[in-house]
Amino acid sequence: MDVGCDHGGLPLTVLHRGTRAAVVAVDVNAPPCDRARSNARKLGLALDVRQGEGLDPVAGFVHVVSICGVGSATLIGVMAPASGRIGAVVAQPNDSAVSLRTWAALHGWRVARERGVWDGGRYYGVLVLLPRGAGAGAVAAVAAPVGVDPVEVAWGVEAQVDRDALARRLVIEIERLSPLPGRVGDLAIARLAQERLANARRADPA
Ligand SMILES: C[S@@+](CC[C@H](N)C(=O)[O-])C[C@H]1O[C@@H](n2cnc3c(N)ncnc32)[C@H](O)[C@@H]1O
Repeated sequence: MDVGCDHGGLPLTVLHRGTRAAVVAVDVNAPPCDRARSNARKLGLALDVRQGEGLDPVAGFVHVVSICGVGSATLIGVMAPASGRIGAVVAQPNDSAVSLRTWAALHGWRVARERGVWDGGRYYGVLVLLPRGAGAGAVAAVAAPVGVDPVEVAWGVEAQVDRDALARRLVIEIERLSPLPGRVGDLAIARLAQERLANARRADPA
């Protein structure tokens, strides 16, 4: 299930790759639902698009919920009332993930996997959240009923970037994404990473 589907890019990619699972795309607004339906038509894919808030348009247990391109507050607002019926969340907050992590840690979730994605010159974090009781193999187990790994789909936009440009961009992006109290420490870490990358490049120019 993709919450906040807008154009439907993620669920359409999952369908296109040949999933055996039922895929539902949800958006709270009508124009995004129309966009997703129109894109599905153009691609000849049967995407089930439903207008509604969070998980409301679907009853019962949902194996994987992707919630991408929204703020952490929206992510929490979608997860909180539906926690008991979600197998895993693939989350891509547009802002700092600190409040999401804090809320998740306090409400029975753990971050099982995490990766940075570069898209359009900007850095975004993608997190896989699992109910705390779920074991180490839970990510694979969650992907299995879907037939394709939605995490890989969400990460698929990752681009190859020049290492120096990446390091420079990291400093800017960490500043953008960090909440104010943590910013100084995060920037220090980013600068250290930048120095290490520069040293590594001097030692290994290839
Ligand atoms: C910026 S778009 C992201 C689209 C897509 N997920 C992506 O990552 O490219 C955010 C979408 O989430 C929808 N949205 C925001 N809050 C929502 C909620 N509580 N339930 C369902 N959809 C929501 C908005 O209408 C909008 O279409």
